[in-house]
Amino acid sequence: MSKSVFKPNKEFAKTARIKNMCEYQALQEEAMEDYEGFWGRYAKEKLDWIEPFNEVMDESNFPFVKWFKDGKLNVAEQCIDRHLKTRKNKAAIIFEGDRGDKQIITYLELYYNVNRFANLLKKEFGVKKGDRVVIYMPMIPEAAYAMLACARIGAIHSIVFGGFSAEALRDRIEDADAKVVITADGAYRKDKPYMLKPVVDQALEGGSPVNKVLVVERNDEDITWVAGRDYSYNELIKSQEVHCEPEVMDSEDPLFLLYTSGSTGKPKGVQHNSAGYILWAQMTMEWVFDVKENDTYWCTADVGWITGHTYIVYGPLAMGATTVIFEGVPTYPDAGRPWKMVEEYKINQFYTAPTAIRVLHKMGEDEPAKYDLSSLKVLGTVGEPIDPPAWKWYYEEVGSSKCAIVDTYWQTETGGHIVSPLPGATPIKPACATLPLPGIMGEILDPVTGERVETGETGYMCVTRPWPSMIRGVWGDEERFVKSYFGDVKKNGKPIYFTGDGAVYDEDGYITITGRTDDVINVSGHRMGTAEIEAAIKKHPNVAEVAVVGKPHELKGEGIFAYVVLKSDDGVADEVEEVKAINNVIKKEIGNIALCDDIVFAPGLPKTRSGKIMRRILRSIAKGEAITQDISTLEDPSIVEKIENMVKSK
Ligand code: PRX
Repeated sequence: MSKSVFKPNKEFAKTARIKNMCEYQALQEEAMEDYEGFWGRYAKEKLDWIEPFNEVMDESNFPFVKWFKDGKLNVAEQCIDRHLKTRKNKAAIIFEGDRGDKQIITYLELYYNVNRFANLLKKEFGVKKGDRVVIYMPMIPEAAYAMLACARIGAIHSIVFGGFSAEALRDRIEDADAKVVITADGAYRKDKPYMLKPVVDQALEGGSPVNKVLVVERNDEDITWVAGRDYSYNELIKSQEVHCEPEVMDSEDPLFLLYTSGSTGKPKGVQHNSAGYILWAQMTMEWVFDVKENDTYWCTADVGWITGHTYIVYGPLAMGATTVIFEGVPTYPDAGRPWKMVEEYKINQFYTAPTAIRVLHKMGEDEPAKYDLSSLKVLGTVGEPIDPPAWKWYYEEVGSSKCAIVDTYWQTETGGHIVSPLPGATPIKPACATLPLPGIMGEILDPVTGERVETGETGYMCVTRPWPSMIRGVWGDEERFVKSYFGDVKKNGKPIYFTGDGAVYDEDGYITITGRTDDVINVSGHRMGTAEIEAAIKKHPNVAEVAVVGKPHELKGEGIFAYVVLKSDDGVADEVEEVKAINNVIKKEIGNIALCDDIVFAPGLPKTRSGKIMRRILRSIAKGEAITQDISTLEDPSIVEKIENMVKSK
């Protein structure tokens, strides 16, 4: 079915960095003809090197690829120091707290704050190049300072999203063997304090590699201080010097780890390195958001996810932009909050997730009209497919039908956008990520033949050549890195990067992402492994078996649906209590973000004779679809009808 097409705003296109499709095609052709020349040119143009690189790309040990070999730089310097000549009094960060408190941090102030923070880590805590530092923080400027301070001294940060539980935090600390945790006492949400430090205390109980905890005092609630381990940032920072020599980093020295879900129970520590990551973060900021010198840009993500890394902190600061950090929730005190902020700060680019758009649409359909949103030029979405009604509202009511919507497709592993419209060039279609960005060899391939799929045929979304910001490894597990990303699809007999997503070309060659092909579900734009949720539920002593699937959800995109077989045969004594107990286990093991929307206590699970759970059947039942697959090969085909009836009667 052909979708409506919306051409770029002509006025906007006149001054855009990429002004039309001819320019896009010229760039993509340049990259195809001289791949290394293309990337080498941008690496020289965009980055300030302490020592130049000698080779653009070395793929001799694929998939362990090296970019900008022998080059030396420091990512914090890219994000701060080099702007001091021309932008020292420009706002680097605009912060708005949940309660409406505001701070503007100039590039010069950012330089001082980050250097003090870096000195604190180095001198008081003895953090050295290559050490892992876990950051478990709310959305406050200190989270950005912490990241950049690590980058400045060459420490590898690993941010754990503040919604994760103590157990999830403990696993990530242990996997990375981190020595230091940076946290806050807590922060504010919907005008009330919430706490983080007690979660850290719990995560460190019973022995941990961590010997120092730095606490930013944000909400001044009472917390427990462990002598010799816990230190107040607010106290220690006062005496730190404002200059800290940046560590000279190799292009391929690790910058950060970010744990993400895969199809097994254990999250993967995705590793990104210095030069390639920061180059693409900056280039995509410039191309996809087209941020200009006097613009104010706001991405509503959390720094705990990759979007917060690349498009709140590293990308905007690398290009010298003004980035907004917001502590609160977009629907508090009402669903007009983001639009009020757009009006107040004259936001030019606004970037959020479809789940937020759906909620804002549902709770405040008429709110955008109450504010002056005329400053907006580009609207972005990320994290999950956006549905056409939400897209339409966003385009018409928020963007007054004059702003491009950039539906950016990418992942933790890709470091930055890989498929996205360019706001001044690409004619857009609702809910369509459109075309690979210049330099990215994105293709939809048939997993069996490795050939490009025909129009309308679903295939696997792949990237056929390494690119600078691609994942460099899974922390501590080379084999998992190779198997997870380079094991499924081959092109011309050669393994290539497979994203895990299905996708389809339309008649214009545009790419629409159809969703994950593995057991990963996308809840409110957060990637959750079903195996991870199952492993948590299995910790409940009365659970014999469990299978988790995704089910379409009006606001969250996908909801979590669990089929649980209990150990006791006498049925479920109190279903409400049992559901509560299971959700409590999930809360403890992972956090509230993984709570189930539906739990069905099934008499058994549909399995093949070899014992494999037929998840496809469970997915169909959860969606209320008719079962079309052959169930005669199941160990007990009658189980399907029993479960279907239970779900229907719920
Ligand atoms: O399934 C795709 C979906 O989100 C996954 C990546 O999740 P994560 O690593 O947590 O990063 C989220 C932010 C980049 C992808 O494998 N996804 C991301 N962007 C889109 C998307 N699905 C459809 N359209 C998008 N624009």
